[in-house]
This record gives sequence, structure tokens and C-alpha cells, in this order.
Amino acid sequence: MVRTYGCQMNEHDSERIAGLLEMDGLEQTDSFDDADVIVLNTCCIRENADNKLYGQLGNLKKLKEERPDLQIAVGGCLAQKDREIIQDKAPHVDVVFGTHNVARATGLLAEARISGPITEIIEESEVFPSALPVKRDASYAAWMTIQIGCDNSCAFCIVPAVRGREISRPYNELVREVEELAASGITEVTLLGQNVNSYGRDLTLKLRGGELPPDAEDLAGKVWVAGSHTARPLFSDLLRSVSEVEGIRRVRYTSPHPKDLRPETITAMAEVAEICEHLHLPLQSGSDEVLSAMHRGYTADRYLAKVHAARLEIVDLALSTDIIVGFPGESDSDFEKTLEVAAEARFDNAYTFVYSPRPGTQAAELVDKYVASSVASTRMERLRKVIERSSRLGNESRIGHSEEVIVEGRSKRDPNILTGRTRHNRLIHFPANRPIRAGSYAQVNVTAARTFNLMGELVEVTASPKHRTRIPVVAS
Ligand code: SAH
Ligand code: SF4
Ligand code: F3S
Repeated sequence: MVRTYGCQMNEHDSERIAGLLEMDGLEQTDSFDDADVIVLNTCCIRENADNKLYGQLGNLKKLKEERPDLQIAVGGCLAQKDREIIQDKAPHVDVVFGTHNVARATGLLAEARISGPITEIIEESEVFPSALPVKRDASYAAWMTIQIGCDNSCAFCIVPAVRGREISRPYNELVREVEELAASGITEVTLLGQNVNSYGRDLTLKLRGGELPPDAEDLAGKVWVAGSHTARPLFSDLLRSVSEVEGIRRVRYTSPHPKDLRPETITAMAEVAEICEHLHLPLQSGSDEVLSAMHRGYTADRYLAKVHAARLEIVDLALSTDIIVGFPGESDSDFEKTLEVAAEARFDNAYTFVYSPRPGTQAAELVDKYVASSVASTRMERLRKVIERSSRLGNESRIGHSEEVIVEGRSKRDPNILTGRTRHNRLIHFPANRPIRAGSYAQVNVTAARTFNLMGELVEVTASPKHRTRIPVVAS
């Protein structure tokens, strides 16, 4: 079994690891007790992510004692960062591998079976692991990593240290992959990158640097005009090309960086029907001083101006964000500014985090400026209230609308209720008196709204998935 602790990119790596294990003849299981191989794909973005892993490894020790044949591997960002510490703290781990050698996961497990525990971490990816087999959870929606690493240096963030520099995958390869996904019945694709909207920056540099490489067309796709050497904002082109693939009905992307959000991307979102009207734009803080100390490269006004421009052009845009509370040096008045910007931006959803020092990052050095945790928690409470208010208002504004919904499955609480996602990525529940398969599209009238979800009435099913999903969703 493969367990994921981190972000969507981490999840996508897990899908690759599961694909490799399946090629080795293993079957996926959801239970530790049934597993012959357990892979923990770790995250280290905040301290609680570390703690969760060490807790889990502690639990697995007993299992390994009972079944010495059980193999345990730890991969992902925390493994990249903490390598030896993991084997020190948990000698029962068979393999430790990093973010750049996912492709080696099964090979290392086989080696460890013969020669004992192995740690193998490399600092740079030799090849982009796009060719690896993938075992996806859903049969109708897929994530596609279009870029790995991050070239920014946000003072709080460990990602550049564990994921390396930014590398974009060749344009044509991505389009081909989406064509294959669509042929297999996938209708929704989410483009992933830590700094997703700067996709192509490295490719452009490669194409501009003197001699054209032989694979120029493949790198830049159809937007490449041979000989003209024009740099293009490739991300918006990629959004368009992916949307043109037959069978693709919804395109999403995450996470863009506000400083790199270009007008072309907004225009593509406004013009192309397949690109969902949802922008996840991490704010982090509403205070210019804090933003500058974070090295975010924008001010609160600049952020709000981009939101305003996006709302003007994209009809009916939903907006979500990430915010950090208690960054070192954040004063009461800095925090008040975050509340003000949050209220003005009217976020439909926000992921809020208390700052967590990550050893090795710049902000972690600012020990004398750390905000007391009681202060940070009080601020967090206040921020949550502001977010919940705008989130509820955003949901209430949908009442009376007919929404296109992708059916995800049965509600956990009530099997007679189906759940789905609107184009805004809002969770919606609605009763259905007949079976509707996951991956179907339906029109649903919104009848009620809560802070975190909508309720609705089914109008009609507009499309069924091309392939049968293994588990039909039945509401009786
Ligand atoms: N690349 C993405 C986000 C990466 S991490 C971006 O730039 O938006 C996801 C979120 O975790 C960040 O947006 C940030 O809000 C939060 N985060 C990152 N490091 C953190 C830290 N040290 N403490 C608390 N939150 C953090
Ligand atoms: Fe981290 Fe900043 Fe890169 Fe996002 S853009 S991954 S927050 S360094
Ligand atoms: Fe965590 Fe690594 Fe993602 S640190 S958030 S799993 S890039």
C-alpha cells in the first residue's frame, strides 16, 4: 500500500509508485495489515507533517516485528530532507528514497530484500519521471505534473530545498499525455506545479539560447514558430492546448504564483469554456512588510489588482487562497491587514496555516521574531471567521443557479445522497432516486448553502463516463 502525506504533487508521485508496484505484480490494499509492502510518501512542509510520519513509523514497528517479510519504504520530501534521521529513528525501515528517484522505488525494495536497508537520495532528477506507469484513484479525473521543483525562495518554505530547481516538461509530451488520458475516459485534468504559471520559463530560455535544440518543436509545442525565437507565455498556451483535446471537459491548475499571473492566463480562463472559473491564488499575508520579508514579490494592492482584473474578465469567478498566520515579526497591525485583504478579496475558500519554522529556511533563523503560539492561535480563530463568512456568502450566492456537477460518489453520511463538484470546485450534495455513475456530469439546481458545501436537486444527467468505473455509485 502507498500512503500519501503531502500535496497533490506528492499524491501524483504516489500514483506513480503504485503503478510501479503493480507492474511488479502487487495489488493495492487500503490496510496496513494486508500489505506486503508499505510505502509512506512523506511531506515536510510543516512540522506536524514530520510528527505524523514518525508516529506512523512507530506504529509500524510492531507490524514489522510480527511479519519480518513486510517491507517498509519511506519516500517523498521528508525523506529527501531527513534521510539518515529516518533510518536512525526507525531502523525497521527497509528503503529511504527521495523526490528525484521515485522511479527507483521498486528496484530499491528488491535490492533491500537481498542486502538489507538502503537509503538512496539524489539531488537532481536525471530524467523527468513522466514515463512511469500510473495507478490513478479516480477513473474520470487526473492530475498531471507539468513542472517539478520551484525557483522561488519564499522565506518560510522548504519546497525548493526538497524538490530542487524548476523543470518544465516538454509541451508536446504533456498534450500527448492528456490525449491518452482522454482516450482512457478521463474528462477532468488538473495541471500541477509549485509555481505552475511560470511553466515554460526554462524551456523558453533553452529555445532562445543560440542554436535551436533538435527537440525544439517538442519542447515548445505548436506555439513554436521555427526561426522566430520569440519567447511565449507558454502556460496560457498550454491551458488552451489541453482544453482542445477531445473528451476533456474540465481543466484546472494549481498553484499559480500571484507575481507570475499574466493577463494571457486570465484571458485564456475567460475565453476557453473547458477551463474552470476557479482561481487558487495564494495570498500568504495581507501586510506589505510581511510579504516583503517572505520574499513573495508582490504587495497587497498588487494582489488585489490581479484579483480585480480576473473578476472583471472571468464571469462568475471563484477564488481560493493559502494564508500563513504568525510569520516571524508579524505584528497585530500586520495581521489586521491580512484580515482586511481577506475581507476585500471575498475568498470562497482558504487554506490557513500557523507558521511552522522549517530548519534550513531563511525565516526559521528569525528566532527572536517568532510569534507566540497563543497569539498565532487567536489570530487564526479571527481569520477563520472572516474566511467562513465570505465562504458562506459565496456559497449562498449560488442558490437558484443551475450548476454543472461532476458526480464523485455517495455521501459518507447518507447513501441516498450523491456528492459532486461544481466547476467552482464547490462540494455539492443532492438526492438521486436512480444510480448515477461516478464521473457522470449532471445539472443540479442549488437549493441551499452552508459554509463548506451546497445542497441541490438533480435536473438531469448530461453525460455518463465513457468507461465503466469499477464501483458503481448507487443511490436507492
Ligand atoms: N507552491 C505553492 C504552495 C506550496 S506549499 C505556492 O507557492 O503557493 C502550500 C502552502 O503551505 C503555502 O501556500 C503556504 O501557505 C503553506 N506553507 C508553506 N510553508 C509553510 C510553513 N513553513 N509554515 C506554515 N505554512 C506553510
Ligand atoms: Fe514554496 Fe514559494 Fe516555491 Fe510556493 S513559490 S513552493 S511557497 S518557495
Ligand atoms: Fe509537502 Fe513536498 Fe508537497 S513538502 S507540500 S509533499 S512538495
